[in-house]
Amino acid sequence: MFVKKIAILFSSNGSNLEALLKKVHNKIFNGVKIECVLLICNKKDAFGIQRAKKFGLETKIIEHTKFNSREEFDAQLVKEIKAKDVDLVVLAGFMRILTNTFTSQIKAINLHPSILPLFKGSNAIKDSFFSDMQVGGVSVHYVSDELDGGKIIKQRTFERNKNMTLQDWEDEIHKIEHEILPLCVIEILTIDKIYIKDENV
Ligand code: GRF
Repeated sequence: MFVKKIAILFSSNGSNLEALLKKVHNKIFNGVKIECVLLICNKKDAFGIQRAKKFGLETKIIEHTKFNSREEFDAQLVKEIKAKDVDLVVLAGFMRILTNTFTSQIKAINLHPSILPLFKGSNAIKDSFFSDMQVGGVSVHYVSDELDGGKIIKQRTFERNKNMTLQDWEDEIHKIEHEILPLCVIEILTIDKIYIKDENV
């Protein structure tokens, strides 16, 4: 059996981290076992750290505030990731802008709560809700030098209904996020577009 290793980077609540671990960690898809071998968080009090413990996983804390520049922080991330020899890095609510130091060396995907290229940046949920767009959605894309600008891998939309509140909008987004991020990881690591068999169900 093949084993494919992932690292997950997150910053706070960690609902996507938990959804991803639940769906893929130590699970076999099409003869490929996916294993999460590294978790990194840049905030020492992030709730996601507790969520990871439910899976028996410890999180490495690398606080960006302890570095003099973005590049130095990114170089530390790269060092930790390279030491684990992972196949894919997943940014699941990792709220840091990454420099070329990271993006030129690491293959990573990111989750973004809008239909890119619309509503880039950290206020995507509010910006999209308060726009006149009649659909909202989620994108998963490769990480590049440009913030939220790398090649799009998967997108999913939902329709706005008349009475939707900001909370409803956000809930829809998170529901989709929890589905499509694991799907992308599985597809990238076990690529056989014709037939992906989930051997865990
Ligand atoms: C998600 O909406 C993600 O798209 C954005 O940050 C949020 C993280 O949520 N980048 P969580 O920490 O996974 O609950």
